[in-house]
Amino acid sequence: MKGLILAGGHGTRLRPLTYSQQKQLIPVANKPILFYALEDLIEAGAKEIGIIVGPNKEQVRATVESENWDAGINFIYQEEPKGLAHTILVAKEFLDEPFVMYLGDNILREGIEKHAKKFEENKNDASIMLTEVENPRQFGIAELNDDGTIKRLIEKPKDPPSNLALVGIYFFKPVILEACKRIKPSWRNELEITDAIQWLIDNGYKVGWTKVEGWWKDTGKTEDILEANRLILDGIQMKNEGTAKDSRIIGRVIIEKGVEVKDSIVKGPSLIGGGCKIKNSYIGPYTSVGNDCVIEDTEIEDSIVMDNSEILGGGRIIESLIGKEVKIRRREELPNGRKLIVGDDSEIVG
Ligand code: TTP
Repeated sequence: MKGLILAGGHGTRLRPLTYSQQKQLIPVANKPILFYALEDLIEAGAKEIGIIVGPNKEQVRATVESENWDAGINFIYQEEPKGLAHTILVAKEFLDEPFVMYLGDNILREGIEKHAKKFEENKNDASIMLTEVENPRQFGIAELNDDGTIKRLIEKPKDPPSNLALVGIYFFKPVILEACKRIKPSWRNELEITDAIQWLIDNGYKVGWTKVEGWWKDTGKTEDILEANRLILDGIQMKNEGTAKDSRIIGRVIIEKGVEVKDSIVKGPSLIGGGCKIKNSYIGPYTSVGNDCVIEDTEIEDSIVMDNSEILGGGRIIESLIGKEVKIRRREELPNGRKLIVGDDSEIVG
């Protein structure tokens, strides 16, 4: 079975970060979101993986190629994000055997191994993954027949027939190509994967489903990324490869090589990337700090700070996503006040 990871799209809901960075490269627990999908596919036995790339194709390629993967990696360029089913048409030459399509901004706790096995055993033409959600109006939802088979898929229903949401991981046989060719673009002018799957159902193909038991996160928005970060940090084990002086390290904290912590408190679960300098600060639970950051005279909690950022006298920071090479400093001289150089679509609350 091959793998197809979707790492194109504009990621408009994550602006301004996605002006300079492809969304699937944003780090969760200091690892690009996309790497979770790659690891899951390799664990499930995929030997060839295609990655759909779009606007920032070079960035995705460079990040993926910075690691060694136990599978062949092929980058497939989608010129315009015209929908999930469109990516299948773009990748048609690569998709000559059954494959798993994995949205590159999704993270699934339990991995996909057992779901992949069921797809192979059941000999279905396609298989989707469903999970119970509390707010079905915000998801693609499956309506089931009395015998438990799938009747219909409905995008964000006003009157949901079930609370079973579609997870962004799908198993297909190459017949899905035919379905993607047959469907028409939706009202938002995209070729929708739900329409392609519905075409299979309506034309007598076998579409099965499996249930996701652990957590699943679609990281489309800031709060979802912070939530995914919390969920991953909840599972970390303590490790300290740095040095801590006159400081307290409390709970499950990972401190990578070259880190210097001085006169500070670091409370887990939290993660401090290699080469960071932390001084006179409080790093609170559910915080991931990227590599080579400097944090002084600051309290920070429930946040992600990306590589090479500097926060000096930042006050108390909570529930924040701070990009790469950001500088936050207290203004020492008069006149007092906040001096801001903030990009388009940024948000500052406080
Ligand atoms: P979405 O989150 O639906 O779309 P998006 O990334 O454009 O985000 P936004 O709505 O904030 O603008 O896409 C799901 C995943 O599929 C995501 O990883 C991006 C990827 N994708 C493609 O690779 N090509 C496409 O044509 C589309 C629509 C999405």
